[in-house]
Amino acid sequence: MKKSWQIWRDRRGRLSPLRLAVLALLLLPLAKASFDAGAIAHGARPLNDLIHRAGFWALVFLGVTLAVTPLRRILRIGNLIDVRRMLGVGAFCYIAAHLTLFFADQGYSFEKTFHEITHRWYLIIGGTAWLGLAALAATSTDGMVKRLGGLRWRRLHQLIYAIALLALIHYFQQTKADVTVPTFVAGLFLWLFSYRLVAWWKENSELSTLTLLALSVAVSVLTFIGEAIGIGISFHVSPLRVLDAAFDFDAGIRPGWEVLGAGLVVVIIDFVRARWPIRTQRVRPVPAE
Ligand code: HEM
Repeated sequence: MKKSWQIWRDRRGRLSPLRLAVLALLLLPLAKASFDAGAIAHGARPLNDLIHRAGFWALVFLGVTLAVTPLRRILRIGNLIDVRRMLGVGAFCYIAAHLTLFFADQGYSFEKTFHEITHRWYLIIGGTAWLGLAALAATSTDGMVKRLGGLRWRRLHQLIYAIALLALIHYFQQTKADVTVPTFVAGLFLWLFSYRLVAWWKENSELSTLTLLALSVAVSVLTFIGEAIGIGISFHVSPLRVLDAAFDFDAGIRPGWEVLGAGLVVVIIDFVRARWPIRTQRVRPVPAE
């Protein structure tokens, strides 16, 4: 049996290259922050810079956790499921750092931190998402799965979708000017939500290449529409003018195209893997997050 802290070993105690790769991925933002240490320290607000980095990576790893189920189907790599918990707990570690840094930014004052979190809308929403993630992290052990029972555990962990939505709202609310990156991230999350919705509706989590193509096009169109409405409302311009600008590539590539590009990459991988499967392990149905 592996010792519980040796997260690079699989359940049988063998060294797992997949787990090692995920561990390296989870540590990458820390390595990047250490590399940028000089620039961060000499920046205008070092703590705020770190708060942004931790929040951004927490959201990214939350997305990667949600992507495990579709990816194991599309890549036909069944044992990807082995690292889902590791990724989820990794996301929580970044979110714990995000709040700790915020606490430091408030001069380590519990009173000030509490006051801020309960008086600003974007922090109320972020705080709610934080509590949700903490509940999921606390119930992610084998012991808790047993205590809660499979069905109750699965129902509780389906909260991950609502938590991700709150985290995205928090991300948009704190973004002051350019919403290009948040819109792209939201588009990717929309793809993941839609995948699960279609899989649930079809009662089959293995979607055909054609369904994946239709899903990617639909999500890309929704990203364009969402962005146009958002910019239209914020800057009092016609959403149709914003949509028109999506085809002006001199002004930059809009997030809707990037979401379409990411979706098409998935479609191509699925197409190739469906024809040349290398099944490392039988892909068994897994409980939803
Ligand atoms: C009590 C909980 C939370 C607090 C106090 C908090 C606080 C903050 C603060 C102060 C900022 C920077 C705002 C600014 O500079 O004006 C921020 C940004 C951000 N937060 Fe949070 N947050 C919380 C929860 C969360 C959660 C649960 C997530 C996601 C899982 C999250 C993701 C982000 C992201 C993505 C950013 C923007 C990063 C970027 O600019 O790239 N936060 N948060």
